[in-house]
Amino acid sequence: MIFESIKNQIKDVKKIAFVTGAGISQESGIPTFRGKGGLWRNHDAMKLATIDAFYENPKLVWEWYNERRENIFSVSPNQGHKAIADLEKYVKVVILTQNIDGLHQKAGSSEVLELHGSIVKIKCTVCDFKDEIMTKFSEIPPLCKCGNILRPDVVWFGESLPEEIWKHAIVQASQCDMMIIAGTSLVVSPANTLPIYAKQNNAYLIEINPEKTEMSSEMDLIINDTSANVLPKIVSMFKE
Ligand code: APR
Repeated sequence: MIFESIKNQIKDVKKIAFVTGAGISQESGIPTFRGKGGLWRNHDAMKLATIDAFYENPKLVWEWYNERRENIFSVSPNQGHKAIADLEKYVKVVILTQNIDGLHQKAGSSEVLELHGSIVKIKCTVCDFKDEIMTKFSEIPPLCKCGNILRPDVVWFGESLPEEIWKHAIVQASQCDMMIIAGTSLVVSPANTLPIYAKQNNAYLIEINPEKTEMSSEMDLIINDTSANVLPKIVSMFKE
């Protein structure tokens, strides 16, 4: 029944925007932030993911990021990421992701907007230095050549999203005719406004999440299952 209604929708679809969050990488072995097993259940976000927390205890924050870097570098994309990458063969696809793990790109997706930065990227807290480092840091906090502390180039609570990426994300959301929202609780702003932009364009909204979210009532279709289960089924319909 559920998949029948998608079949009817995909006939005329020209552009699909995906909005993804931590849940899409859960089946790759990366914990989510909220809900069962979520990182924010055992860790205080305000002590690990704000600029004030970082200046107060850069070593603690870097230890946490170092652990996450190690985990993320060791895992692989799952069937959900792979299905989205495969979908590019059949329709225009853009991914608007809150994830910093790079797994969409690893799976082969070509248009990925990283709204919250990337775990491989670092930047200086003072000068303009930026880099991409694929290994764990042995000395923490790592220092810039200018002598100041380097920080992860990710978006922390209270910080703005990278301006150009966010503008581009709004344009993409406003132009899609289908939006698939997978593995995000949609509680974090402004990423959680993207479905509203899509809706204003009369896009068909599909939510894939084992749990209900605060925006489930706005969706045209809700599939309460995991993304690695559902996405390959959706993509297979484009091949028929
Ligand atoms: N498949 C699909 N969805 C899943 C799966 C799965 N296998 N497992 C869990 N989920 C769902 C959960 O039910 C939850 O609704 O994924 C969602 C994950 O929500 P969050 O942990 O809040 O992750 P996210 O929405 O990406 O968080 C947004 O908050 O602190 C941050 O900056 C961080 O980018 C992150 C932002």
